Amino acid sequence: MLWRSLTLATAVVVCAGTVALADSTAVSEDAGKWFDADDVPTYKFAEDGTADWFTWRGYKKYTANCFQCHGPDGLGSSFAPNLADSLKRIDYYKFTEIVSSGQQNVWHPENSIMPAWGTDKNVMCFLDSIYVYLRGRSDGAIDRGEPKRPAINTAARDEENACLAE
Ligand code: HEC
Repeated sequence: MLWRSLTLATAVVVCAGTVALADSTAVSEDAGKWFDADDVPTYKFAEDGTADWFTWRGYKKYTANCFQCHGPDGLGSSFAPNLADSLKRIDYYKFTEIVSSGQQNVWHPENSIMPAWGTDKNVMCFLDSIYVYLRGRSDGAIDRGEPKRPAINTAARDEENACLAE
């Protein structure tokens, strides 16, 4: 019960327009995919701590495609920024634009190149998943390491496969 009342208190703080805290951004759902009040994809955890499919998938796809430069769990490295920090100022739309088209010499003034992933299906078919995972890391809602694995969301997985086959 204590946990529940803390969650409620958190929700009130968020409504007052301050920071987004653990698992407080999801307000609507479509086939297991969660959205915030602005219809932007977000993460959601079940009461037992199990992640939603997209969050878990995002962790896997981040680790496969982004980890090599951005470090474990989005924490950054000497040659690419900490994305948990970046997402405090970069919104969903800007994130999508940067990942699709790349970015150069903004974070660091020289020889700093974020590749464009716009034609790489292993990234683009999972862009929302990677975003919600990093959003959760940025909000402090997701710990380091693999989020608790959910049951397979077959509708989502079918969509992923259709996207990969396009
Ligand atoms: C080959 C190394 C490399 C890989 C792989 C890579 N990035 Fe980057 N990324 C960078 C570098 C370097 C920058 C900083 C570019 C700059 O200085 O403007 C960056 C910047 C970014 C930014 C902007 C951050 C900011 O604060 O301006 C985002 C968002 C981002 N990367 C997301 C991703 C995601 C998501 C993936 C995986 C799909 C990924 N990156 C894979 C090297 C990489």
